[in-house]
This record gives sequence, C-alpha cells and structure tokens, in this order.
Amino acid sequence: MNGTYQPDPDDALRVWREVADTSVLLDGFHAIKHALRFGAPIPSALAGDKAAVLALADDLAPDVKDALDALLVQVPEGTLRALVPRLHPTGVAALAVRPSRAANLDALARMPRTAPVVVLDDPRNLGNAGAVIRLAAGFGATGVVTTGTLDPWHPTVVRGGAGLHFATAVERMDVSELPPGPVFALDAEGEDIRGLKLPDDAVLAFGSERSGLSAGLRERADHLVSLPMRPQVSSYNLATSVGMTLFHWSAGRPPGAEA
Ligand SMILES: C[S@@+](CC[C@H](N)C(=O)[O-])C[C@H]1O[C@@H](n2cnc3c(N)ncnc32)[C@H](O)[C@@H]1O
Repeated sequence: MNGTYQPDPDDALRVWREVADTSVLLDGFHAIKHALRFGAPIPSALAGDKAAVLALADDLAPDVKDALDALLVQVPEGTLRALVPRLHPTGVAALAVRPSRAANLDALARMPRTAPVVVLDDPRNLGNAGAVIRLAAGFGATGVVTTGTLDPWHPTVVRGGAGLHFATAVERMDVSELPPGPVFALDAEGEDIRGLKLPDDAVLAFGSERSGLSAGLRERADHLVSLPMRPQVSSYNLATSVGMTLFHWSAGRPPGAEA
C-alpha cells in the first residue's frame, strides 16, 4: 500500500456509524476532492482499496493526496458496500460535517456582495438542484437558496453537485426571507437579458420545472428577465437557464474576477 498511515478500521467504522445520521455523504473520489479543496471537515473516509484511491489522486488531484492519505481508512469492500449501498465506481466514500444554517444565512445576507445569489423557487428535480449548485460553485456565486419542500442537502443533490456544496452557501428558506439585493426573476416573458447588466448583488430567481415562478416570487421581483429563445420553443431546462444567466453576469466582469 502507498499510504503511510493506516488508522484502526474498527475505530473508523465506529466514527462512521456515530456521525452517519447527521453528516453529508460524499460519494466517490470527485465529491471528496471538492469537499477537501473547499475546507469541509471530514470525520470519516473509507475505501475498499486505499492504494487505488491514492493512485487516482496522483493522476487527477495531487493537491489533495496528502490530505486523503491522512484521512482514508481501508476497510473490506463488503463492509463499505453495507454502509454505502450504491457505492461510486471509484470505491471511496466519506462523511462531511454540514455547515450550520446560521453560518449559511450569514454568508447569504452579508453586504456588500461580490457575486449573485441564485434562488430556485420550489424546484422538483434533485439532479437539477445538484447541477445548479455545481454551476454556482464554478461561477463563484454567493450561494444557492431553494424555496419549497426539496432539501438542497439531499444525498442525490449532493451527488449531482459533486461535493461543491462546500464551495458556496446552500440553504432552504421562504420567499419572504430571501437575502437582500435586487431580485431578477427569470421568465420567458421578461425583458431580454442581452440588454441588461446584472449587478454583483443580484438575487437571480428561477421558477419550478413544472409551473415556473410562484406568485410570491413574482411579487418580490424587481425585474422579469428572459433568455433569448426562438418562437415555438416553450422553455429551457432549469439548470441550463441558471448556467446561461450566470455566464451573462460573469461576461460583464473583467477576466480573472472569479478568483
Ligand atoms: C423548465 S422552466 C419552467 C417552465 C414552466 N412550464 C413555465 O411555465 O415557466 C424552469 C425555469 O427556467 C427559467 N427559464 C426557462 N426558459 C427561460 C427563458 N427562455 N427565459 C427566462 N427564463 C427561462 C425560468 O426561471 C423557468 O421558471
């Protein structure tokens, strides 16, 4: 084995079982890599073949190899599969501590803001929510807020977000509690985005896959904004719409401003 340190597997499994119910499951190498890069506390990380995971780190992410070596505990593959039934093909899983709601609300409310907040108004599709969190992380957005019943920390959303929940502030809240800043609500009937500059303190709101923006969000909106779309096409996918809108915001900034 390449690893220089191998803690006791029984201790690691005990910690896993103790914290599993209150932690965020990081499923696979890429999710763990992102969580480490963005400072997530990881109390337990398990692999069926630690050497294979460290070899993957050598190839794909040498910056996290030492941290992985210190964290990862090798356990029998069957034991790992009993804990994580849909184990990722990279054969590694970890549990991370979810940031507190208070810390996220603080980050979302902080002004002046240097990058927009994305709001998903009653989203229904867990995969869409994960893809949006990944976009928000990539563009350096301040955070992603969801309204409605979907849990933005649901394991399927975390899997879709590739561990990037830790790179932005992700919380659920009511429309009445949205962070400060001008609300630009995206709707096919709005003003063409190409004529607008989106400010850094914008709150960019997107409607539900099924029914679009809720009445409450429309009431709260300062601007209704549309993405260019040819006649007879009814709408774009939710995550695609977020990607285009964040790109439009970033295109108004100097290169390198995302750092
Ligand atoms: C799948 S669409 C919702 C379609 C829904 N049937 C409706 O009536 O609006 C999800 C969200 O993506 C955004 N969206 C999709 N296409 C858009 C467009 N051409 N312009 C602005 N926003 C758009 C909107 O925020 C919309 O609520």
